[in-house]
Amino acid sequence: MAKPTPRFVCQACGALGPKWTGRCESCGEWNTIVEEAPAAGPSHARKTTGRHVDFVSLAGSAAPPPRTGTGIGEFDRVLGGGLVPASAVLLAGDPGIGKSTLLLQAAAALAKSGHRVLYVSGEEAVEQVRLRARRLGLADAPLELAAAINLHDIAASLEAARDAAMVVIDSIQTMWLDSIDSAPGTVSQVRGAAFELIRIAKASRFSVVLVGHVTREGTIAGPRVLEHMVDTVLYFEGDRGHQFRILRGVKNRFGATDEIGVFEMTEAGLAEVPNPSALFLAERRGNVAGSAVFAGVEGTRPVLVEVQCLLAANPQGSPRRAVVGWDSGRLSMLLAVLETRCGLRLNASDVYLNVAGGLRIAEPAADLAIAAAVISAATGTPTDPGMVFFGEVGLSGEVRQVAQADARLKEAQKLGFTAACLPRRVARGNRPLFAPEGIALHEIGHLGDLVGRFAGKTTKP
Ligand code: TYD
Ligand code: MG
Repeated sequence: MAKPTPRFVCQACGALGPKWTGRCESCGEWNTIVEEAPAAGPSHARKTTGRHVDFVSLAGSAAPPPRTGTGIGEFDRVLGGGLVPASAVLLAGDPGIGKSTLLLQAAAALAKSGHRVLYVSGEEAVEQVRLRARRLGLADAPLELAAAINLHDIAASLEAARDAAMVVIDSIQTMWLDSIDSAPGTVSQVRGAAFELIRIAKASRFSVVLVGHVTREGTIAGPRVLEHMVDTVLYFEGDRGHQFRILRGVKNRFGATDEIGVFEMTEAGLAEVPNPSALFLAERRGNVAGSAVFAGVEGTRPVLVEVQCLLAANPQGSPRRAVVGWDSGRLSMLLAVLETRCGLRLNASDVYLNVAGGLRIAEPAADLAIAAAVISAATGTPTDPGMVFFGEVGLSGEVRQVAQADARLKEAQKLGFTAACLPRRVARGNRPLFAPEGIALHEIGHLGDLVGRFAGKTTKP
C-alpha cells in the first residue's frame, strides 16, 4: 500500500499545502501551519450507482421557519426571532468573554419553558457547570448536562434524543473523533466533529449550538473553518475591561445579519440591556472638548454612542493615528478631508480616537460625529452637549444623506437630546423629514459649515 502523503493545514483558514511554511499563503497568518494525518477520503471501493435525487419546482410551499424563543430576548433577536429546528448555530468569541455563561442561561431558560435541552461540556467538569448554574440562580432548571469529549459516544446519545429542542456543544474545539488521526482542535477534528453533529441535528430536527473559541495561536482551529458549514454565525464580542458584551450576527440563513444584542456582564451572569444608548452614554461628561454623540443604527435598532478624540502635539513629524472602535483607514480619509477641504491643521498632532463603551462602529454615517469630535478637539471647544451628529462625508467634504434618519432622531429625542446636526436635505427628497418635537435640526451640506460653527464660538480658528 502506498504511504499516505502528509498534508499541512492552516489552522486559521483551513488551506491545504504540500509542505510546512512559516506563513500561510492563503490567509497570511504566521505559524498556523500544522501537519495533519490525511483524511480517510471517499472510499473508492464503493462502485454502486447512487439513487436519483428528486428535483422540485421553486413554487412549492415556503412557510417561514418555525421558531423556538429561548426567553433571552437579545439572543433571540440576533437569531432572527428564536432558534430554528434542525439548524446549526456557531457562537464564536474570545476565551473568557462569556459564551458558556450566555448559553447556560439560554439553555436553562428554554428548559424551564418545557423544552428538552442537552448541554455537553467538553471543557468543564459537571461540578463546575453546576457551580456556575447555582451562581446564576439556575440550578433548578431541568437541563440535561454531560461532560464528554468523545464524539462517537455523544453522537449515540444524541441519536437517541430525538425530542430535544436544543443541544449545546461547549466547545467544538474539545470534541474528539477517534476515526480521525489528529489532535482535538485541529482543522480535521473540528470539521469532522461539526459535520457529524450537524448531520444528527438535521436528522433529529433539533438546533445545535456550537461554541467556537477565536484563537490566535495556530494549534487550535478557529471558528472561521466552520462558518460555511453552519446556518448561523454569531460573534460574542466585548472588551474584557468593560462589562458590555455585544452579540453580533455575521451570517444567518434564517434572518438579518446586522442585528446586535447588548448584554452587561454582572455578578449574576449576563443581563440584557434593553436600552443600550442610555448605557453607552452613562459616563459622558458634557463640556469636554473632543467629544460628540453619534446617532447610529445597529440592525433595526438606533444606538447613541459617544465618540472621543484627543489631539496631542507632535511637532517632530510622522504623527500617530490610533483608533479604538472604528476603521483607521476611514479616520485617515476624514483627517485628510478636514485638512485639505476645510483648512484644519492636524499634521503636527497625534490623533487618538475612541468609541466609548467598547462598541465597534462600522457605519459611514459616523463620519460627521467623528469629524465633530476632531474639530472640537482641534478648536478646544466642546460640542453642544444636547446635540447628536450623523451623516456620511465624501472626499470633497460634502455631507451625504444616510438611511434611517427618522429612527436616529427619535432615539435622540427619547434620550433627552435637543438638537441634531445632519446632512442637508436634497431637493428631490419629497418625503418630509420627521422632526421630533423638541429637536432642533441643523442641516449642513459641507464639512466646512461644521468647522465654521466651531470657529464662530472660539477665538482660535
Ligand atoms: P465564560 O462564560 O466562562 O466565558 P467563555 O465560555 O466565553 O470562555 O465567562 C467567563 C467570564 O465571565 C469569567 O471571567 C467570569 C465572568 N463571569 C461573571 O462576571 N459573572 C458571572 O455570573 C459569570 C458566570 C461569569
Ligand atoms: Mg466556556
